[in-house]
Amino acid sequence: MNILARSACAKIILLGEHAVVYGKPSIAVPFSTLRTFATIAASPVGSGFSITAVDLDNQLTVVDQQSQTVEDPLAVASWKMFELLGISPPDANISLHSNIPIASGMGSGAALTTALLRAILHIADRTLPNEKLNEIVYEIEKIHHGTPSGIDNTVIVYEKPVYFVRGLEPERLKVAHPFSLVIADTGVSASTKVAVSDVRKLYDNNRLVTQQLIDSIGELVLEGRQAIEGNHFVELGAIMNRNHELLKELTVSAPMLDKLVECARQAGALGAKLTGGGRGGNMICLVTPDVIGSVKSSLLANGAYRVYDTIVQ
Ligand code: PMV
Repeated sequence: MNILARSACAKIILLGEHAVVYGKPSIAVPFSTLRTFATIAASPVGSGFSITAVDLDNQLTVVDQQSQTVEDPLAVASWKMFELLGISPPDANISLHSNIPIASGMGSGAALTTALLRAILHIADRTLPNEKLNEIVYEIEKIHHGTPSGIDNTVIVYEKPVYFVRGLEPERLKVAHPFSLVIADTGVSASTKVAVSDVRKLYDNNRLVTQQLIDSIGELVLEGRQAIEGNHFVELGAIMNRNHELLKELTVSAPMLDKLVECARQAGALGAKLTGGGRGGNMICLVTPDVIGSVKSSLLANGAYRVYDTIVQ
């Protein structure tokens, strides 16, 4: 019997990516309509525990004694959870299926891990505070991304808008009034790990200028928080525009991102920027409900691979 056990959402970074790695604040929101689902199938006694990642060409991970030593993120995550719960691998297969685009700045890796771990908790008939779950997902994010700030796993595990500073308890953001975002996928896959390490090189080679860019992004995030909490959306749009320019200077934009950002602004968005690691992946724009349709059509007409919209509340 198959049980659709658990799921985890995608995420969008609204403001502050990259600078967050250097201790600056960042704001991220859940994108609840795109999700990873974990389905459990009981296996015959003694057959062991395995994971099928449907969207990764049905990649099968057998979680046995040998898999304890490999750096396979799904196997490592499973073992960490078994150890924490004090259980042996159950006889079961967990199948992970996701409609979150991979490598496009939406936290697909963290969502995969979160859904898997929630399914294991379901099998074991146990619960775990989000805080603890978040710690494990963060450990696995390190395998995926090297030196992640922890923002992806945090917003995905808590599924709430967060104001995040590396190393501090995430703060729940109070959204004064729901607002709409349109998200456009450039269709270009890009590695967050590479973008983060390129920013690090920039930082090492040109510390003064890079630090100024990072500081300026940090200040924008503070202003952005006030705008969200105070219902000042025209201002928030302008802050997003300025954030995009600073990210460009950090070398993490790309021609297609710049094109879509410009197109969204022309089509009436209050503000637009890249989101996540950059170089490809997605851009976001802040829109009033009356222009959602026209902004989406314009983005598609200008080469966006796919578009979505969501309400942040
Ligand atoms: O590309 P994403 O969605 O995984 O976002 C990465 C965000 C960065 O700030 C660039 C890196 C990080 O670890 O926070």
